[in-house]
Formats: sequence, structure tokens, C-alpha cells
Amino acid sequence: MSNIIGSVSTSHIPAIGAAIARGVTEEAYWKPFFDAFPPARTWLTARKPDVVVVVYNDHGLNFFLDKMPTFAIGAAAEYRSEDEGWGIPPQKATRGIPELSWAIIEQVVEDEFDVTTCQEMLVDHACTVPLQLLWPEGWDDIRIVPVAINTVQHPLPSAARCLKFGQSIGKALRAYKEDLNILVASTGGLSHQLEGERAGFLNPHFDDLCLNALINKPELLTKYTTHEIVELAGSQGAEILNWIVGRGVMGGEAREVLRNYHIPISNTAAALQVLEPV
Ligand code: DHB
Ligand code: FE
Repeated sequence: MSNIIGSVSTSHIPAIGAAIARGVTEEAYWKPFFDAFPPARTWLTARKPDVVVVVYNDHGLNFFLDKMPTFAIGAAAEYRSEDEGWGIPPQKATRGIPELSWAIIEQVVEDEFDVTTCQEMLVDHACTVPLQLLWPEGWDDIRIVPVAINTVQHPLPSAARCLKFGQSIGKALRAYKEDLNILVASTGGLSHQLEGERAGFLNPHFDDLCLNALINKPELLTKYTTHEIVELAGSQGAEILNWIVGRGVMGGEAREVLRNYHIPISNTAAALQVLEPV
């Protein structure tokens, strides 16, 4: 049986990848954001994860608006990254764990989630930037299961459905035959809107509400419709759905190990939250 060691949820803003590539993480603009990560890495090192379930949204690299699965799960032996237009360097391919991916797929389909299964899958900044933040020296020892949620093209899956989807993934992980330490990494958010009249919109009050609810009351977030979430968090703030899925994966009671909230990084309220099961 596998062991879910906890979750690390973080923003995935491409400018973070650019700051790493340019070596400017110690500059005043970036320092308050990057300074949150060494304690998260210390926590992570002590818990020795073998596998990371990365819950993220694709931004037009692997899927585009013409074909947009609500939920997609990678089942590949490796995942290459490419730059979908932000100018950040692609990262070394990340190893997959197809057997675990298929065990998850079997479970979620049994639980009536009709997922898209991807035996080839490119991963974008929403998957690679968090890996860079957590493993700055590289992540060759880690295998991943990418889980892509449609937070981009409406209709989006409801927060309630996202929580249940995560719970179904968690069931598969706990039942998995091999003893693996599994980390859930949810990416995106928090509040942000990149386009239109409300470009630059941030909502620290709603972000705080989300961070608090995610610890032990994620169901509070399921009372919001996806349109209400867009209104409260901004159009790309709907990426909070990834965090809700991730919280469902972990399940049970949790303790907040650490939190950092810093606005803005680029156009986004940047946050980091580490939870572990109690
Ligand atoms: C930004 C944030 C995102 O979540 C993203 O995917 C792209 C850009 C930003 O704030 O620049
Ligand atoms: Fe994004």
C-alpha cells in the first residue's frame, strides 16, 4: 500500500521559470517568493517522496481549445516539456510511472469519471515550474503522474466534482500494491486574471478564505459555482480547482505545515501551502 505523505500547492507563473533561468531569484522583487521554498524542500527531503501526482492545467501545449478534456491523466513512461510561448527553457524530460497511472485510471473510471488517458503527453510550465521550485537540483529520482484539469475553457468542472475526482485518485493511491511515498503537488492560482477589463484583478480576501478552507474544510469551496469562482478569483484564478482536486487526493484530516502568500508575482497572487496528514 502506498503512503500519501502530504501536499505541496504552489502557483506556477511562467515568470518564476524565467527568474530561475536568469538567476535573479535573490533580487528584491523575487526574494519574498523564493524564500518560502527552502523550508518546503526541507520538509520534502525528510519525507522522501518516490512519486508526485501533479494536478495542474494545460495552457495550450498538449491540449488546445479545439480539444479540451475536462480531466486527463498521463500514462506515459516519460513526459517532455516544451515552451508554449512564455520563453522559458524546456526542462529535462520527467519519468512517468505508467502502472500507477493505469491503476488510477481504472479507479476513477470505476467511480464514473470519464477521463482522457494520455500515453503521450507534453507538460507545460504548470507542471515544470513547481518541479523546479521543489527540486532545484533536478528531479531524476522522482516519477510523476500528471493530472490535467480543464480550468481554461468553459464549462469547467464544478468544485464539488473536482473534490470527488481527487478523492477517487486518492483511493487508487492508497490501494496501490507497491509501497511508495506519494506527494500531491497542485499548481496554479491563486487569484489572477490575465486579460480583459479586469486584467490584473487580485482578491486577497478570497485567497485567504481558500487557503483556510483547504486545510480541513475543502467542502466549503464546493458551494461556489465555477462562474462565482471566476468572479471572485479572476478568470485564471479558476486554477484553484487544481488545488481542490489535490486536497481531495490527500483526503482525511490535515495540518498546515507552511504557508506563504505574496502579491503580486507577475499578474498573480502567488501562494505556497504545504499540508500533511494528521
Ligand atoms: C501568469 C500566471 C499563470 O497562472 C499562467 O499560467 C501564466 C501567466 C502570470 O501571472 O503572468
Ligand atoms: Fe496558469
